[in-house]
Amino acid sequence: MALLTIRHVSKSFGGVRALEDVSFDVAAGELIGLIGPNGSGKTTLINILSGHQSADRGEVLLDGQSLLGLSPDRIARRGVLRMFQLTRGFGRITALDNLLVTGRALGLDSDEAHRRAERLLDELTLTRVMNLDARQLSGGQQKLLEFGSCFMVPPRLALLDEPFAAVHPTMRQIMADFVRKRHAEGQTFILVSHDMPIVMELCPRTVCMNAGTVIADEATRLVLDDPVVIEAYLGGQAA
Ligand SMILES: Nc1ncnc2c1ncn2[C@@H]1O[C@H](COP(=O)(O)OP(=O)(O)OP(=O)(O)O)[C@@H](O)[C@H]1O
Ligand SMILES: [Mg+2]
Repeated sequence: MALLTIRHVSKSFGGVRALEDVSFDVAAGELIGLIGPNGSGKTTLINILSGHQSADRGEVLLDGQSLLGLSPDRIARRGVLRMFQLTRGFGRITALDNLLVTGRALGLDSDEAHRRAERLLDELTLTRVMNLDARQLSGGQQKLLEFGSCFMVPPRLALLDEPFAAVHPTMRQIMADFVRKRHAEGQTFILVSHDMPIVMELCPRTVCMNAGTVIADEATRLVLDDPVVIEAYLGGQAA
């Protein structure tokens, strides 16, 4: 059975059809790229998977059980965690405390939360700034911190919405290495990105959306070479 099943999901905002009959499966351990021109519905789909928006139609199943209608909190407790395209977090507490709060909220005891936080801070090169308030961190460091928060308790499924956007190349590399390593350990991801070289490098399989529908879903190289995909991007740029 697939870990995640998305079936016939549709969503409109007034007259805008953000998603139209979207279906695909994610198997445990997959790292799937989710690409498509601006406004193609990627974030809307992530929002529906994480419970931050409702679907008009369709079904989303995790381990065969419906997620639709559950709050983001309950979905997170089932093991679906997401990173936002625009960084969120607790700005007025330290980087370390951001990780500890998340860990405690997800059921870790204090010692275990500290152990994991320290390991993640080291891995994400944030040890030097761990006692600064999160809002004092650079944009890239805040992204790395959000990454860490997502992995205090490794989720069943991690949803990453453009984690590499507007991030210094050094930090982008740290993030890419982090994702690659976790994937090798069996972590399941959906990764939204406009960074095709990184999608090519990290994701064996890619789903491409355009105007709310899935237009390609296969091996990443085939998707990136698909004339329908290329046309979707060119069409978007010309509009
Ligand atoms: N809350 C909303 N209210 C109205 N329209 C919305 C809302 N959210 C998204 N849309 C519209 O739905 C469509 C899909 O948007 P979405 O943000 O999912 O695209 P995206 O693929 O994530 O784009 P990008 O690559 O720019 O992040 C767009 O036409 C967008 O304008
Ligand atoms: Mg988006």
